[in-house]
Amino acid sequence: MKKVGIGLLGLGTVGQGVANIISQPKDRHPLVGELELVSVAVRNLKKKRDVSIPDSILTTNPTEIINNPNIQIVVEVMGGIEPARSLIIQAIRAGKSVVTANKAVIARHGEEISNEAKAAGVYVLIEAAVGGGIPIIEPLKQSLGGNQITKVSGIINGTTNYILSRMDKEGVNYAEVLKDAQILGYAESDPAADVEGSDAADKIAILSGLAFGGAINRANIPTTGINLLEDIDVNYARKLGYGIKLLAISEKGETQPTSEDSQPLSVWVEPTLVPEDNPLAGVNGVNNAILVEGNPIGQVMFFGPGAGSGPTASAVVADILNIAGIQSMSEDKIFNLDPLLSAKGWRSCH
Ligand code: NAP
Ligand code: HSE
Repeated sequence: MKKVGIGLLGLGTVGQGVANIISQPKDRHPLVGELELVSVAVRNLKKKRDVSIPDSILTTNPTEIINNPNIQIVVEVMGGIEPARSLIIQAIRAGKSVVTANKAVIARHGEEISNEAKAAGVYVLIEAAVGGGIPIIEPLKQSLGGNQITKVSGIINGTTNYILSRMDKEGVNYAEVLKDAQILGYAESDPAADVEGSDAADKIAILSGLAFGGAINRANIPTTGINLLEDIDVNYARKLGYGIKLLAISEKGETQPTSEDSQPLSVWVEPTLVPEDNPLAGVNGVNNAILVEGNPIGQVMFFGPGAGSGPTASAVVADILNIAGIQSMSEDKIFNLDPLLSAKGWRSCH
């Protein structure tokens, strides 16, 4: 089998994790050995990195990757809205499949990207965009497809959960523990996205689109972060028998829809008092937990590391393998993005 050429846009926390997996295929899925890292785009060629790849495959020109005929899958792990969005679209138009961990782009431009991918007949997979290493996108698209989903909720930002857990358990100061989260590679390049709740809002927008069908207007999601919390809030909550968790919630409303296109859906992000005996109170550190409720399944919980190099790279490589597997077996239509935002109807947030 000819090797599947991979182009990486970004070699930061996630990109290095992906490069490390691809360059060490032993004891992994056999298809990992069929992947070849052909080219990697970075901003700074001189930066010291925790990965052993030849300098000769580094470039500061992402367009080289888009135009490289030896690359079949472009992996966007540079972050931010632009130029990430434009590069994803250029890659699709060049006939490449795309894997991205970029929830900010997908939450705002997922429909555009999905339409481009359908028109070009390529795949765009986004497992790493929500929940770090936790498989949640694929289950919502496939394994839970027989259900009427009523609610998706949980802890979907690792940085804030790490901060709140350490403030609660170790009494560490907010600013100090945020610095640790940055050093560990959990936080976004601008950590305001984490602590102000925007990252969780991006993720719940994506999960809502998958669970309920239709695009969610990202701008309409009421969002409160943990940036206004003080140590005293965490201490009082503990004394009263609660933990504070940043929860993201998306649920169908109580009232009957007036038409197929206007079913009520409430979506929000806010710090919440969680009783100590609630399972979410026991989700600590960088872990995430996502509860999906539906009919007939009832409740199903997804739990695991929600950020960090290795866990996120695990999800990115899973997507790469799905696409490489399809290409190698000449199958199609099994793993593609069709259900994402394939509008059953547009829903509004409360
Ligand atoms: P990061 O550590 O800041 O890495 C970003 C990488 O992209 C760097 O290597 C940077 O180059 C490169 N880059 C940025 N702009 C570029 C440009 N215009 N041209 C060429 N290269 C460019 O970010 P990260 O933590 O890996 O996150 C990447 C993406 O994954 C983001 O969308 C993030 O939201 C998402 N994500 C992250 C995590 C996590 O735990 N960190 C988890 C899930 C999803 P230099 O190294 O030269 O500066
Ligand atoms: N900054 C994000 C988080 C990375 O802490 O959850 C994972 O998406």
